[in-house]
Amino acid sequence: MQLSRVEKFFFDNPLRTLKQRKVEAPVMFRNLVLREGSSCLEVGCGNGTGALIINQKFPLSRLTAFDCDPLMVKKARKLLNLPPHWARNVLAGNIELMVADAVDMPFADNNFDACFAFGLLHHIAEWEKAVAGIQRVLKPGGIFAFKEIFAPMFKSRIVRRLFPPVSLIYENDLRQAMDKLGFKFVFWKGNETGCFAQAVKR
Ligand SMILES: C[S@@+](CC[C@H](N)C(=O)[O-])C[C@H]1O[C@@H](n2cnc3c(N)ncnc32)[C@H](O)[C@@H]1O
Repeated sequence: MQLSRVEKFFFDNPLRTLKQRKVEAPVMFRNLVLREGSSCLEVGCGNGTGALIINQKFPLSRLTAFDCDPLMVKKARKLLNLPPHWARNVLAGNIELMVADAVDMPFADNNFDACFAFGLLHHIAEWEKAVAGIQRVLKPGGIFAFKEIFAPMFKSRIVRRLFPPVSLIYENDLRQAMDKLGFKFVFWKGNETGCFAQAVKR
């Protein structure tokens, strides 16, 4: 689901970019090695910062990044055309941006070596379907690296007001759903309010 105006402000400003670059990505990418020429996907790319960070870190031949919100994809396109100072060395010619829905992804099965998502699933009512889609489009052995926020984070009324979740996901629900789909976790850092994780498609 598209973000509210307040959320868009929080997810599209220089402080968010700094946090995503310096705090989130280093944890999400911990010990993750992708071979030269890998083909990757970013689901819920927002303003495109994540795509630049991913492309800066890994030697990819192709990065497909999509969001359900056409306005965010437009912003991402703008960012890629005129990269900020920190991304001036990032080539963006291999990044393809598009509008799409994580619940109904327009990609072939067994297509990507890795898939990334920064805080996406709690924005989706049918989040299990989105995870199943990610599993479907990953190649066997492919990796799903993500950050997610769990239900207890939204106990606070202020947090709920500012960042209304579409789905209240608990750690166990996510782990069970992914286990059932055949994912094997290889990295997990988190607590009851959220996590950074990497899981391999078996
Ligand atoms: C919390 S924001 C994160 C944006 C960006 N990745 C970041 O970390 O700054 C979640 C993004 O997922 C997008 N989104 C929500 N539901 C989606 C869906 N079903 N399919 C694709 N994108 C979705 C929203 O439009 C939003 O841009």
